Amino acid sequence: MMYDAFLLLGRSSDTELYPAPRFVTHIDDQAIRALTKYYSQALPLSKTHGVAILDMCSSWVSHYPAGYKQEKIVGMGMNEDELKKNPVLTEYVVQDLNLNPKLPFDDNTFDVITNVVSVDYLMKPMDVFEEMRRILETSGLAIMR
Ligand SMILES: C[S@@+](CC[C@H](N)C(=O)[O-])C[C@H]1O[C@@H](n2cnc3c(N)ncnc32)[C@H](O)[C@@H]1O
Repeated sequence: MMYDAFLLLGRSSDTELYPAPRFVTHIDDQAIRALTKYYSQALPLSKTHGVAILDMCSSWVSHYPAGYKQEKIVGMGMNEDELKKNPVLTEYVVQDLNLNPKLPFDDNTFDVITNVVSVDYLMKPMDVFEEMRRILETSGLAIMR
């Protein structure tokens, strides 16, 4: 993370930061266990009819509980090779949210939005959060860790 933090300084866009896939974990094993445990309590039960989830700033792993499934789990991130390998995603979108903070989804599309260790990458966080509110169901849940 420290390496990334220094890289963030002076960049003109995150496209420069994510040209090649990085199949690493960005948090340690203990944090992953705590996050997955939290998700097992906070996310809708696996295979609940009609549930749609968006994992923003996603990569090759989302740390959802093992075998977790929903009809629609969309990943958004910067690197297609990473997103392609993420087993929990049913689809993905590659988009630099600093260049375009508009989320390509209809109003009230998602029940849950997750975003892990990545809010600090956002250069227009208020625009992105407004968009998150728009695409979340009224009773939807945003999990930013
Ligand atoms: C530290 S990694 C975290 C990945 C994943 N959430 C996790 O928990 O392992 C940061 C993620 O933010 C995404 N990201 C960084 N800058 C971004 C931007 N400007 N727009 C969209 N996604 C971005 C990258 O694709 C990368 O997957």
